[in-house]
Amino acid sequence: KSSVSVMFEPDGKVVSGTSDTLLELALNGNVSLRGECGGAGTCGKCRVQIIRHYGSLNELTRTEEEKLSDDEIKDGYRLACQAKILSGNCTVYIPPGSRSAKREISAVGLDEDVTPEPAVKKIHIHIGKSSFSDIRPDLERLRSELRCPKETEISLGTLTELPKILRKSGWDVTVGMYGNRIISVEPGDTTEEIFGISVDIGSSKVICHLVNLITGETIARANAENPQVMYGEDIVSRITYASRKPENLGKLRRLIADTINFLIDSVCRQSGISPESVYDMVFVGNSVMHHIFLGITPKYIGVAPFIPAVGDLVSFPAKDLSLNMNGEGLVTAIPLIGGYIGSDAVANLLITKIYEQDEISLVIDIGTNSEILLGNSEKILACSAPSGPSFEGAHISSGMKAVSGAIESVKIEDGNVIYRTIDDVKPKGICGSGVIDLVAELYREKIITGTGKFRDLSHPKIKVDGVPEFVIEESFDTGNNGDITITEKDINEFLLAKGSLKTGWTILAEKFGIEPSQIKKVYLAGSFGTHVNIENAVILDIIPGIKRENIVFAGETAVGGAKIALKSVHERRKLEKILEKVEYIELSVEKSFNRRYIRSIPISRDKN
Ligand code: FES
Repeated sequence: KSSVSVMFEPDGKVVSGTSDTLLELALNGNVSLRGECGGAGTCGKCRVQIIRHYGSLNELTRTEEEKLSDDEIKDGYRLACQAKILSGNCTVYIPPGSRSAKREISAVGLDEDVTPEPAVKKIHIHIGKSSFSDIRPDLERLRSELRCPKETEISLGTLTELPKILRKSGWDVTVGMYGNRIISVEPGDTTEEIFGISVDIGSSKVICHLVNLITGETIARANAENPQVMYGEDIVSRITYASRKPENLGKLRRLIADTINFLIDSVCRQSGISPESVYDMVFVGNSVMHHIFLGITPKYIGVAPFIPAVGDLVSFPAKDLSLNMNGEGLVTAIPLIGGYIGSDAVANLLITKIYEQDEISLVIDIGTNSEILLGNSEKILACSAPSGPSFEGAHISSGMKAVSGAIESVKIEDGNVIYRTIDDVKPKGICGSGVIDLVAELYREKIITGTGKFRDLSHPKIKVDGVPEFVIEESFDTGNNGDITITEKDINEFLLAKGSLKTGWTILAEKFGIEPSQIKKVYLAGSFGTHVNIENAVILDIIPGIKRENIVFAGETAVGGAKIALKSVHERRKLEKILEKVEYIELSVEKSFNRRYIRSIPISRDKN
C-alpha cells in the first residue's frame, strides 16, 4: 500500500495514511462522516465530493452507480466507503447530509415574540356538490364559497389538482391563500397546519428554524456549514468565483439551495410534518449570499460603488428557487441596507428593536465583515468593518473554526495556561473566542506589549527555535500531535481585525455626534458573540467599555429577526419605515478612516 493524504473539507482536516477507502481514512482521522451500514455500501449516507486529486482513485464501483444519481456522478460524488485513494493526495468535501456531528446551536438570546399574523391564510369550506341545478365550474363555485372576487388568481398546480381533491374530499376542503392568490386546496380541515421557515444564509453557516405560524412557536432548528466555503472562505473570493463564468454562479446557487433543502428536510423530520405544509420562507443574509441564492450575479457588489441589484423586500414562488417546500408558497428576501451590509443586519434591527428606543444602542455582529449599527428611534447609522477571518480562527497558525476540539476560552494563572475546549476533548487548535481571551491574557500578564510583541523571549512558555511562539499546549497533550501556539504574526493579524471593529464604531459615534461613553447598550449579535468574554472584549476595544449589565448577548439574531418577519406580515410592512431611519456609512471613503484605524490597532485601555 502506498502512502496517501486526504484533506477533508469544510474543516480542512488533513489525514495521512496508507491507501485505503475514504471512509477508513476519515474514521482514522476522527473526521465526522456518516456510515450507518459500516461501509457495506447499502445506506448511501457516506456521499462525498472529490474536489481535486493528484494521484489515482479506484474506478466507480457498481454499488456507487446504483446509489448515486447521474448528476452526482457528474459532480464528482463518490461513496466514501467505496472510493479508494490508491496514491497521491486529494481534497474531499463532506456535504452537510454526510456529516455525523453537528455544532450546538446557540439559543436565541432575545425575545422574538410577536403576535402571529401569517402571510398565508387558510380557510376551511364546504362546497355544495355539483349537480344539474348548479353547473358552474369547480373554480367558480370555490371562489363564490370563499366570497372571493372573480379576479382571484389560482396557481396552475393547484388548479390541476382541484377537480380531484374536491370530489375525493366530499367537497370539504381547506383553501390556502397568499394575499389574493389561491396557492393550495387540501382535503378536510387543515387550518391548523401552516408552517414557515426562517433562514439565515451566513457565509460559513446556514441556520434554519421551523415555525408553527398559527401559534408562533419554533418547533425545530437545524444548521449546516455553507458548502460554498470550498470556493473561498470570504465574500470577496465568492464574488470572484461567481463572476468568472456563468456556470459558477449556478454552481454556488445550487449548493446553497441544496443546503436549505437539507435543512428543510431535517426540521420537517424532527417535527413529523410534511415539507408540503411549509408555505412561507423568510431569509436573510449578507448581500452576496442574498444575490447568489436568488441567482443574481454579485459582481457589482464587489466593485465600487458596490451596488446591489435589488435592495427592497422581494418575494418569489418557492418552486422558482427549487426548494422542497410547498412549491406555491413564497420565499421572501428581507431588504438589504447596502452592498456590504445585508439583510442579516436588518434582522438584527428587527430583533433588538433599537429603532424604537430613546437611548443610543450599538449592535455588533462579528464576522469576516462585521456589521455595526448605532442609533435610536431618531436615526440609525450602519457600516461594515472588514475584520478579516481571524475572529473565525483563520489566518492564525493554530487557528480553527469553533468546532469540537477548538480552544474556546483561555486564562493564564500563575504562569499556567488554563483553557477549555469545545466538547471538552483534547485541543486541536484555537478558535476566535479563544484568541480574544489569549491575547487579552497575554497583555494583562505583560507577556506582550500593546503592539503585540513578546516582551521577553526567555519566558518559559515562549519557544524560540525558529519563529518565536507562545505555547498554549505541547504536542503530547493535543488532539493533533502538534504544539498549539500563537506567534507575533498571529497576534498582529488579530490586532488588525479588532482595530477595524473599533474604527467602525468610533466613526459611527463621531457621525452620530456622541462620545462612545454615551452609548447606553451594546448588543453582541451572532453565535460568535455568545462565546466572547466581555471583560476581554472591552480590554481589546472590540466593544466600548460600558457597564456589564448593559451588554446583551443577543444570540442568533439574524435567524431570530427573520422569524419576526416570518410570523407577522405587520412586521414585514414596518420594515420600510424602519429602513427610512437607516443611513449607510461607507468606511473606506471616510477621511478619518486611516488615522483612526492606525490608532485602533494597538491594545490600550486608556484610548477611546
Ligand atoms: Fe453506507 Fe457507505 S457507509 S453506503
